[in-house]
Amino acid sequence: MADGTSLTAIAEEKSVPSSFIRDEDERPKVAHNQFSNEIPVISLAGIEEDDGRREEICKKIVEVCEDWGIFQVVDHGIDSKLLSDMSRLSRDFFALPPEEKLHYNMAGGIANTRGGFSVSSHLQGETVQDWRELYIYYTYPINSRDYSRWPEKPQDLREVTEQYSEKVWDLARKLLEVLSEAMGLEKEALSKSCVEMEQRVVVNFYPKCAEPDLVLGLKRHTDPVTITLLLQDGVGGLQATRDNGETWITVPPVEGAFVVNLGDHAHYVSNGRFKSADHQAVVNSDCSRLSIAAFHNPTPEAVVYPLKVGEGEEPVLKEPMTFKDLYWGKMHQYIELARLKKLAK
Ligand code: SIN
Ligand code: FE2
Repeated sequence: MADGTSLTAIAEEKSVPSSFIRDEDERPKVAHNQFSNEIPVISLAGIEEDDGRREEICKKIVEVCEDWGIFQVVDHGIDSKLLSDMSRLSRDFFALPPEEKLHYNMAGGIANTRGGFSVSSHLQGETVQDWRELYIYYTYPINSRDYSRWPEKPQDLREVTEQYSEKVWDLARKLLEVLSEAMGLEKEALSKSCVEMEQRVVVNFYPKCAEPDLVLGLKRHTDPVTITLLLQDGVGGLQATRDNGETWITVPPVEGAFVVNLGDHAHYVSNGRFKSADHQAVVNSDCSRLSIAAFHNPTPEAVVYPLKVGEGEEPVLKEPMTFKDLYWGKMHQYIELARLKKLAK
């Protein structure tokens, strides 16, 4: 399928085009609504207080970061109206006619763009397509914003996206403080390891699908970043594994909650103590789904290496490398794996 097509039109068909069909080993093992409570929902109420409550919350966060690298937070202080406006306006954008969305099409793929609309996969050169449309906003640092790549319609979406990205940015920094302290470092240690932290907001729209058991909305991956905050609607579809894909759990939607997941950068700088959450998104035949991911990562030139290596421990990285090399090394690895898989068929 060429980039110039809208997935929403294809979604009306009774069967899915072969370019979306996954090999059997990659197909969903668990349904989008088969929810599990294994991942904790942590209330942040009182996290600013020094009366023992902060310690209790931080302990819970750290435990789940060591175990899964993914959890949910509520009572995070971000106004629920802002969250519902962001979701509603984003949905309205995806409901626009294809030509309006394609006006912002990311020609040349993700590497050569300042954001915009795209159909399907997030990786270039992949052989099987993801069942999603997406919109990428470059939001931080502020000078990375190219407003000509932010949609003009629906009205208010730009303004709400700005407010949303700012609030989520503050929350991400707060969570990084907790993890820095847990590593026995100063509060700012993780943000500083990013040099100038960046943020991208990626809105995913997964149309309903006639054959959801054969496809993935977003293929299995770990995020290359430091920390991701994800807002999902009530449909369900985010799945995580911690045993290399043996078993999967579906993260239950909790109204107003953010799903927090750590990425590869957090894994490396914590010398492997914190997990980089292994996850994917599945779709369903009843309704479409919307999720909004805010990724926070180092500047490309930031040097990645464990911030602290305990006595008797080996560093998880042989030598320091730039975030840019780490990121593109990972992307090329994904592409190469897909190519080898195709050749082996
Ligand atoms: C992501 O991994 O970026 C999105 C997952 C989701 O849509 O739940
Ligand atoms: Fe992800």
